[in-house]
Amino acid sequence: MANHSIVIASGKGGVGKTSLAVNLAIALAQAGKKTVLLDADVAMASVGIMLGIERAPISLHNVLMGEVDVRDAVYDGPNGLKYVPSGLSLERIKKVEYEKMKAAVETLADANEFVIIDSPPGLGPDAMAAIKAGHELVLVVTPEPASLADALKIKSIAEKNNLKILGVVSNFVTRDKSEIKRQDLETLLGLKILAEIPDDFEARRSAAMQVPAITRVPASAYSRAILQVANAMPGVEVQIVEVKTRKENFFSKFAKALGSMFKKKK
Ligand SMILES: Nc1ncnc2c1ncn2[C@@H]1O[C@H](COP(=O)(O)OP(=O)(O)O)[C@@H](O)[C@H]1O
Ligand SMILES: [Mg+2]
Repeated sequence: MANHSIVIASGKGGVGKTSLAVNLAIALAQAGKKTVLLDADVAMASVGIMLGIERAPISLHNVLMGEVDVRDAVYDGPNGLKYVPSGLSLERIKKVEYEKMKAAVETLADANEFVIIDSPPGLGPDAMAAIKAGHELVLVVTPEPASLADALKIKSIAEKNNLKILGVVSNFVTRDKSEIKRQDLETLLGLKILAEIPDDFEARRSAAMQVPAITRVPASAYSRAILQVANAMPGVEVQIVEVKTRKENFFSKFAKALGSMFKKKK
């Protein structure tokens, strides 16, 4: 089995990595791929919160402290997805041995087609460990200059560590004039854009409700963009159902009404 361990990385925080990692992992599981989601953001541990799952007794913290095998920290998530949570104890983080991350990911990759790794932002030891643990990387950016400078640093680190960069996901896209355009992003980063995810209140609402968008609102613009990312993953093909926007519905109803008015006149 050609297994994939894909780090979801960014320079800047708050660009939507955890949301992408959680929803992408569920999309892959829904597509029938054996998938495990690893919460490698050891300090923030937000995967469990986004999934709406209670604090787990055994977490990646125990694995990184050499107390348990990573297989003992795997839990059942939604839609057949498995996940490895991080713990929330700040005291214990100090004792974590980040070098153990790579071996943990390799163990997970032996038993799964996809290991999706949610990484911390920045270039600290936690972020470096997450990046070095994967074989492939998806770079998350927002279409603005500050995000790009940081993204280029991550790109260079990924290349130095021989990760295959699958491409870029541009998140919080609004199509405002001030935004960096898709083509320019590709040129500036020297990487392919896998998908543009719109700024969608459904993503924010899903995080607040602790139910991932892909299951709560599968027809939302956010969820459909997630499926585009899933389709860009090696060996994955999912159907993206076209949905009519409210505007189209309004206009088609309007056109029908006009049509019937003319018929009556005949
Ligand atoms: N496309 C989007 N549209 C609207 N809100 C989003 C989008 N992507 C993420 N969010 C929201 O932004 C916040 C930060 O996202 P998160 O995934 O935690 O980012 P990161 O892991 O990079 O820090 C969350 O509240 C999330 O719901
Ligand atoms: Mg995060």
